[in-house]
Amino acid sequence: MTIDLTPPTKPTLGTCYYPEQWPKEQWQNDAHQMVELGLTWVRIAEFSWGVLEPTPGELCWQWLDEAIDVLGQAGLKVVLGTPSATPPRWMLDKWPDMLATDNSGHARKFGSRRHYCFSHLGYREESVRMAALMAKRYGNNPYVQAWQVDNEYGCHDTTYSYSDAAKRGFRVWLQQNYANINVLNEAWGNVFWSMQYNNFEQIELPNATVTEANPAHHMAYRRFSSDQVCDFNLAQVQAIKTFSKAPVSHNFMGRITDFDHAAMAQNLDFVTWDSYPLGFLEDRVNATSEHQRQYDRQGDPDFQAFHHDLYRGVGNGRWWVMEQQPGPVNWAPYNPAPLAGMVRLWSWEALAHGAEAVCYFRWRQAPFAQEQMHSGLLRPDSSLAPCYAEICQLAQEIECFPISKGKADVALVFDYTAQWAWEIQPHAANTSYFDLVFDCYKALRKQGLSVDVLPPSALETQEVCDQYKVLWAPGLMHMTQCLKDILVHAKGHVVWGPRSAAKTQDMAIPVPLPPNIDSLKVTVHSCESLRPDRPIALDQGGYVINYRELLDTNANVIEQTMDGEPVLIQHDKQLYLAAWLDQTCWQRVVKSVCGMANVPTLDMPEGVRCRNTGTHLFWFNYDNKHHDVSEQLLEPGGVLIQ
Ligand code: GAL
Repeated sequence: MTIDLTPPTKPTLGTCYYPEQWPKEQWQNDAHQMVELGLTWVRIAEFSWGVLEPTPGELCWQWLDEAIDVLGQAGLKVVLGTPSATPPRWMLDKWPDMLATDNSGHARKFGSRRHYCFSHLGYREESVRMAALMAKRYGNNPYVQAWQVDNEYGCHDTTYSYSDAAKRGFRVWLQQNYANINVLNEAWGNVFWSMQYNNFEQIELPNATVTEANPAHHMAYRRFSSDQVCDFNLAQVQAIKTFSKAPVSHNFMGRITDFDHAAMAQNLDFVTWDSYPLGFLEDRVNATSEHQRQYDRQGDPDFQAFHHDLYRGVGNGRWWVMEQQPGPVNWAPYNPAPLAGMVRLWSWEALAHGAEAVCYFRWRQAPFAQEQMHSGLLRPDSSLAPCYAEICQLAQEIECFPISKGKADVALVFDYTAQWAWEIQPHAANTSYFDLVFDCYKALRKQGLSVDVLPPSALETQEVCDQYKVLWAPGLMHMTQCLKDILVHAKGHVVWGPRSAAKTQDMAIPVPLPPNIDSLKVTVHSCESLRPDRPIALDQGGYVINYRELLDTNANVIEQTMDGEPVLIQHDKQLYLAAWLDQTCWQRVVKSVCGMANVPTLDMPEGVRCRNTGTHLFWFNYDNKHHDVSEQLLEPGGVLIQ
């Protein structure tokens, strides 16, 4: 086998496997059974440091040599994980200060995983040492066809650390980003409350202040923390690339926004993410209990698709699902089993959004330790779990199926720094940038649209921008002049707001007042947040919820409140949305703006979503009822491909 770096033309399937957790005698059977099922990929070793190096410097490769051999000879391609998410216990004896510290100043303990601080340079060196050792040994192994660095950065709330290592790193980062201390004092507005510093060594991390720390201080810390994660990753990527030509990846998560995934993806050959639809619905979607009840065995109809579109957009477009939920998980507040058909539906949906591969977590359920209540493709006794038959069916269905990334008419911008800005200054208990963008995404999907989710860095050229008929850019609290200019000159319609360009890079209100974009003919003169029980009615129906801005404008008013305050205004192809809308209103706005741009919309039945790949039109039924779709009856959990 040689390393193939060209994008594949047909999708593949795989699984996550832990040879070190099973007797050697089982490996061969497992490998053959994987191949028989139709799997191509097997990801291994990402938590194996304890067996690779049981004591400092004692390297035990033999088991991994054999495991790779058994899997490879059976016909599988290996994704080899570097094990830096699980430093062994002795590492703490060597580096007692390597643990991350929580915001009340307590070190997080050994006994699970991800127990390290990204800023600890000693541990960073250790992780690079191990990545280099692995790459040296397996970099030319024909069975190792891809790499995964670490596992799920940010999982278990591990991006932020308030350790001494982080404090040292932060001070260096500040010196690199502000010419001198006076520049920093000025940029942060430290004259307020006498917060001026005399030198960088006086600056602490923004935890444990008496009341809130300066938003500029918080924002700098967020940017710093994100850079630390990216640098940690890059150091391992470089070590691997010194010895191996195989592509390198990392597995992102659902709704983890603490570091800039687009920045990290610049240094990855492809990105992957881990999709747990039922766990997410209970834990991360921020849904009403009625919605949770309705979709408890299917997952939210838009949450997975949003992440597929987001992660397709953050890098070079090449992406996989590295971990697909196969049955009940162990970690959400409630963990039901999926409705029959859903494992196949989730997998097809990923492929319809352009995934090159879908891998299932995990091959066999572990009978011991933390995740024993997490299902796999096999039960602990190797009997087949219900998803097995669905995956078997899927493996046959995807034979000869072309991969297509699709081409959307509408784009939605998602910016990690905007997420941090909203977290730092939400201006209300119920506002979140992620939820704002996701509300917009849901409305687009409920109108039958396929969407490209793009980071601002993807819009750095006018050419990319001009491919879209409508661009939605809600909530971008800080915007670079370059991004503003590109959107102002877009060929398509652009919907800005709310809170567009409302802050400088250092979280101050700019003067002239926002959004300060000539072509928009609008100034936001004030804003307010709303109690959940005090929405504001619009004159065409629906409500403003959570947040709204008050405008000075003489542009054309498309939506307004009952008492005549403008909510959506238009000047030529540029529109400004001055509020957070409920779904009724979002959908009306989507229809009317798409109407202006000649983009056809279609009211989707409850729980039904579609995706146009350019070669095929997919329909997915997330509802627990049958629905008529394109003159065919689609059962709950059903997929229709046209
Ligand atoms: C993921 C993680 C896996 C496993 C899985 C359980 O977040 O990467 O190692 O813990 O969750 O659902």
